[in-house]
Amino acid sequence: MRKLQMVDLKSQYEKIKDTVNASIQEVLDTNTYINGPQVQQFQKSLEDYLGVKHVIPCANGTDALQIAMMGLGLQPGDEVITADFTFAATVEVIALLQLTPVLVDVEMGNMNISIEAIKKAITPKTKAIVPVHLFGRAANMDAIMDIANEHNLYVIEDNAQAIGADFTGRDGVKRKVGTIGHVGATSFFPSKNLGCYGDGGAIFTNDDALAHTLRGIVNHGMYVRYHHDVVGVNSRLDSIQAAVLNAKLPLLDSYNEARQNAARKYSKGFEGHKNIIAPTICDACDCHVFHQYTLRIIDANRDALMEHLLAKGIPCAIYYPIPLHSQKAYLDPRYKEEDFPITNQLVKEVISLPMHTELDDEQIRFIVDSVLEFFN
Ligand SMILES: Cc1ncc(COP(=O)(O)O)c(C=O)c1O
Repeated sequence: MRKLQMVDLKSQYEKIKDTVNASIQEVLDTNTYINGPQVQQFQKSLEDYLGVKHVIPCANGTDALQIAMMGLGLQPGDEVITADFTFAATVEVIALLQLTPVLVDVEMGNMNISIEAIKKAITPKTKAIVPVHLFGRAANMDAIMDIANEHNLYVIEDNAQAIGADFTGRDGVKRKVGTIGHVGATSFFPSKNLGCYGDGGAIFTNDDALAHTLRGIVNHGMYVRYHHDVVGVNSRLDSIQAAVLNAKLPLLDSYNEARQNAARKYSKGFEGHKNIIAPTICDACDCHVFHQYTLRIIDANRDALMEHLLAKGIPCAIYYPIPLHSQKAYLDPRYKEEDFPITNQLVKEVISLPMHTELDDEQIRFIVDSVLEFFN
């Protein structure tokens, strides 16, 4: 059996080596390391893939979120509602811009931001909602857009973990997540569903004026060279990373399918087990692209299961072990433990198994058997 890894980028690279190498070689041959034609090509291809008017490439997913918030003109003291159960980058940029983070609980079913909790958290100072499509699964964008429209709020989708996932609206139309709110942000960190070989990110929007503003912000606030109209940042996707992404974007759907197939096999193996809640996979839509395959372990010792798996050479991880509202950097006397029952439960129950495009049947069988063996 091939060595088990949480993410197997080497085996993936072996299969696409020729295309990726040729794409990178082009950058080296043309010496266009910054803003080369590869960046524009990637921007255009991603706009086509997502069905969005504007993609603004940038240096990483954290910057993408920050720049999106800057572009919307959010001001210190504005309240921004986001999920308590996510990676810290989401809340970090809110705090960094001196906006006021308002963390709210998530829903048990999809582990995404709770619609009821958003409604309860709205005050006259609320300006934006940041849903995170956690682990690759689309948040309930119909409900979120309804609330945003009713209260005149911006929606900034954190799509770092779900590129390529679809959300089917109540109108029956499938849209790529990240393109439904006013603005979306993603990451091309190597382990992401569409990952480059370093750092990378992008912002998406259908709003022409906002796209123009964002293009200036990523480039030191310049719209005309050496004319700095707004305070900006330096956040570029470099040409070599764009070259890697140009080689990988045409494979994104097949990569997401490979992840879904692996998830299906895992979930079948865990079906009906009294201590394991496995993620559901709907066949009719692509609302989950399995950035992570995350189980909930019920009435059993999750940490002992983790030790059991690690001892057998199976990598696994707890995403995320501490709710954001309990992290030192984000403590706030307004938060009450009883407002976060689901997140507080999830951090004790979740465990993520290896998930990537190269998992084979033998590996999946071994992982499933090893998990089941723990409960015997
Ligand atoms: C939910 C979420 N948001 C934002 C980010 C930030 O992306 P990056 O690491 O590219 O800055 C990540 C990356 O792990 C993430 O998982």
